[in-house]
Amino acid sequence: MAKIDPSSQIVVLTGAGISKESGLDTFRDKDGIWSRVRIEDVATPEAFARDPVRVHEFYNARRQGLLNANVQPNPAHAALVRLERDWPGGVLIVTQNIDDLHERAGSVNVIHMHGELLKSRCAGCGHIDDCRHDLSVEFECAACGQAGGLRPHVVWFGEMPLLMDEIEQVLAQAGLFLSIGTSGNVYPAAGFVEVVRHYGRGHSVELNLEPSVGATSFAETRYGPAGELVPRYVEELLRAV
Ligand code: APR
Repeated sequence: MAKIDPSSQIVVLTGAGISKESGLDTFRDKDGIWSRVRIEDVATPEAFARDPVRVHEFYNARRQGLLNANVQPNPAHAALVRLERDWPGGVLIVTQNIDDLHERAGSVNVIHMHGELLKSRCAGCGHIDDCRHDLSVEFECAACGQAGGLRPHVVWFGEMPLLMDEIEQVLAQAGLFLSIGTSGNVYPAAGFVEVVRHYGRGHSVELNLEPSVGATSFAETRYGPAGELVPRYVEELLRAV
């Protein structure tokens, strides 16, 4: 275990793998979401313009799945809450996930760079609302009254992820960059480890079920289920404080 300066911030990138043991599907595992439906049909602005009903059906099903009582935060989410509570230098979670499991576990400092499934956004005026119900083209925006423009507050392929300037700033300063449960296929998140290496300040660790595309860029790697790996790694980190 490398020695991390306890006064430095820890930046944690999470992907779909951290939610797998909570019962949510990943994208690129053999039984993943993209093995059942094409990105071009449901996760691009063009798809929404071409067939908004199909796109709403896709996200309505995922929203209902997320709100299922059987879907709960798992020990990996809980370990990150403990780390945020006990690490002197502070912790920021930058998640690619659109679920709310980090928040439901108790994490406070969370950036959803790909948006949030339990929020809607008006394509007309940009108004963002909480959304725990099915969306459809009939719905009117609560702010501008326009119908047909409400979409999930989710970043689609071809769109810019959220808060990238803030994310780049914290990566430059991080004493530790932890990447958990992501395959390293999608930029800019897949490039975060190179940003950390470029500034040369942070130790980088990959905790994943198997090596990601960017595995060789990490100073340290550990493989196994997040529900086992993350609590163990957090315990080691906090013991060394
Ligand atoms: N514990 C840890 N890692 C796991 C587990 C587990 N229990 N189960 C699966 N994984 C790993 C897989 O080995 C894989 O490397 O999680 C990773 C999931 O990779 P993807 O399915 O590609 O998901 P992700 O990396 O989050 O995708 C990034 O792509 O489709 C877009 O916007 C979507 O945010 C998503 C982005």
